[in-house]
Amino acid sequence: MALLTAPAVFAALLLFWAVLGSTDADVAPLYKDPAQPVEARVTDLLGRMTLAEKIGQMTQIERLVATPDVLRDNFIGSLLSGGGSVPHKGATPQEWQDMVDGFQKACMSTRLGIPMIYGIDAVHGHNNVYGATIFPHNVGLGATREPYLVRRIGNATALEVRATGIQYAFAPCIAVCRDPRWGRCYESYSEDHGIVQSMTELIPGLQGEVPKGFTSGMPYVAGKNKVAACAKHFVGDGGTVNGINENNTIINQEGLMSIHMPAYLNAMKMGVSTVMISYSSWNGKKMHENGDLINGYLKGKLNFKGFVISDWEGIDRITNPAGSDYSYSVKASINAGLDMIMVPNNFQSFISLLTGHVNSGAINMSRIDDAVTRILRVKFTMGLFENPYSDPSMAGYLGNKEHRDLAREAVRKSLVLLKNDGKASDKPLLPLPKKATKILVAGSHADNLGYQCGGWTIEWQGDTGRTTVGTTILDAVKAAVDPSTSVVFAENPDADFVKNGGFSYAIVVVGEHPYTETKGDNLNLTIPEPGLSTVQAVCSGAPCATVLISGRPVVVQPLLAASDALVAAWLPGSEGQGITDALFGDYGFGGKLPRTWFKSVDQLPMNYGDAHYDPLFPLGYGLTTNATKAY
Ligand SMILES: *[C@@H]1O[C@H](CO)[C@@H](O)[C@H](O)[C@H]1NC(C)=O
Ligand SMILES: *[C@@H]1O[C@H](CO)[C@@H](O)[C@H](O)[C@H]1NC(C)=O
Ligand SMILES: *[C@@H]1O[C@H](CO)[C@@H](O)[C@H](O)[C@H]1NC(C)=O
Ligand SMILES: *[C@@H]1O[C@H](CO)[C@@H](O)[C@H](O)[C@H]1NC(C)=O
Ligand SMILES: *[C@@H]1O[C@H](CO)[C@@H](O)[C@H](O)[C@H]1NC(C)=O
Repeated sequence: MALLTAPAVFAALLLFWAVLGSTDADVAPLYKDPAQPVEARVTDLLGRMTLAEKIGQMTQIERLVATPDVLRDNFIGSLLSGGGSVPHKGATPQEWQDMVDGFQKACMSTRLGIPMIYGIDAVHGHNNVYGATIFPHNVGLGATREPYLVRRIGNATALEVRATGIQYAFAPCIAVCRDPRWGRCYESYSEDHGIVQSMTELIPGLQGEVPKGFTSGMPYVAGKNKVAACAKHFVGDGGTVNGINENNTIINQEGLMSIHMPAYLNAMKMGVSTVMISYSSWNGKKMHENGDLINGYLKGKLNFKGFVISDWEGIDRITNPAGSDYSYSVKASINAGLDMIMVPNNFQSFISLLTGHVNSGAINMSRIDDAVTRILRVKFTMGLFENPYSDPSMAGYLGNKEHRDLAREAVRKSLVLLKNDGKASDKPLLPLPKKATKILVAGSHADNLGYQCGGWTIEWQGDTGRTTVGTTILDAVKAAVDPSTSVVFAENPDADFVKNGGFSYAIVVVGEHPYTETKGDNLNLTIPEPGLSTVQAVCSGAPCATVLISGRPVVVQPLLAASDALVAAWLPGSEGQGITDALFGDYGFGGKLPRTWFKSVDQLPMNYGDAHYDPLFPLGYGLTTNATKAY
């Protein structure tokens, strides 16, 4: 049995050399042996590392400041693309792979050859990348109430991320948004923590499903077709005062634990590899220096064994003004339990301050070793040492037909029908007939792929126009109707044009313009003009179905009053045909509100279960229509 004896002989030889105290350079170090248990590999490698090499692992830098020399000289452990940070506009998967592999080559050429991990905000598909499938933002997925659909989206997203050579997605956002005035509310699946918990199914989609008997809190990534995930933003990000981004979440311990924490328990069970800390504060204390919740609760009580990462310049913002005492920021955040810092630009300063704190004893070596152990554990677990480079054969996954069909399915399931009357008022307007003499499509969002995708698409703040590959709602209408139906498009027609146009009916698409993070904070929640005026002009002259594109509930009564039918379509992404699938009745409307729809912004915050609950439409509301096709 040569197959059995060969390893035995090898083991005996190893023992022989060990006994002789040999450090023969020909013997591969234990950490390079994939047959060894992960923990043994971590311990072996950690024991070989200098302080500089350890601190390098804890440092994540932006691709724009990364050069091969920077990576080698500083032993950098991780890179990222910030929102919109791409090799060049329209870069192909192969160009992405070449960029990532170029960085990796530099990291692999260091003394110990530790691979870097490259992270990106793939938060609704691989959204920075031209040609990727853009899935609905999380608020729309919350409306589907279908965790398994979200898992399949995670699976597709992992493949598209790997198609570009990247191994790490900063997703899912498991914020429980309690106030739609928050600019990140669309990144939250729901105001209801139970719905958010169910949607942590994105994690096994991205990382693979943990095996039976898995220990909650351990990181898990099932190999080179999967990516490391990131549960964010720990914790209470969706509960800030008046929905002000990065602000203060004022709530008692019981409230924090019962509303904002539960989804982290699900994430632990699913083996999430990393957790990102929130910019926000809890009762006045910045989360980036909250040792009780990071070291104590997350790592202690929840047994989290992956790594904790900061948000972008998150430690800078511990002080006010941001960065005014960076030395304090470094010390406080690392001592609170952060393992990797998304620096992302001024890495020299970070590295020298952290080195100084360790040398002075302000940060213990045991804390550094804990951080590096966690980072290496994730890298070994996911097989990064064995597969540090991209797989050229995966490039074809980016934006493929199967993934676009999945996104289209998600869009049609995410639509929430808020009104469905008719001009004659005896027959609902929807579904619309495909065969008609002449129909009108109107509105600022009817033929604008950028608007339809929202923030975090191609650019950090999103964009306008046909900035990537996809189907606008106008494209989708033209593809759906009978060839004999004449489709007229007018973005902002006046009432006379509509009245005299002889249209059988009109579809008008309006809504919010793209935004991300603080730029999306909004106290009035009205859609910009010409939104309402277009709807009023169109609906005064033809039976009309209004499609509302928004990341959250907005002031909707005037739109409802003007429209015969109204669909909340959230931020659907690149596959506009999901909308026409339901408008024309191939599939029924079935989405349920993932959020309470307010009557007036004065009521906010107002969430299901509140004593003063008096919504326009409650959480869970949604009319249905019958389908001509089965799901
Ligand atoms: C994951 O995606 C691949 C390729 O798109 C597909 O073949 C496979 O069935 C998907 N698996 C799940 C569980 O969705
Ligand atoms: C919250 O926002 C207010 C108003 O902009 C600001 O003065 C305050 O510093 C913020 N608090 C935190 C913790 O960010
Ligand atoms: C460093 O470790 C010692 C001994 O465990 C402990 O007493 C001390 O508080 C630690 N210092 C810091 C800054 O964590
Ligand atoms: C609503 O708030 C946004 C964001 O602050 C602002 O840009 C917009 O002008 C406001 N709209 C109205 C009608 O006040
Ligand atoms: C759906 O179909 C059922 C019977 O199949 C019918 O009773 C009902 O009125 C239909 N609903 C709508 C909205 O068309």
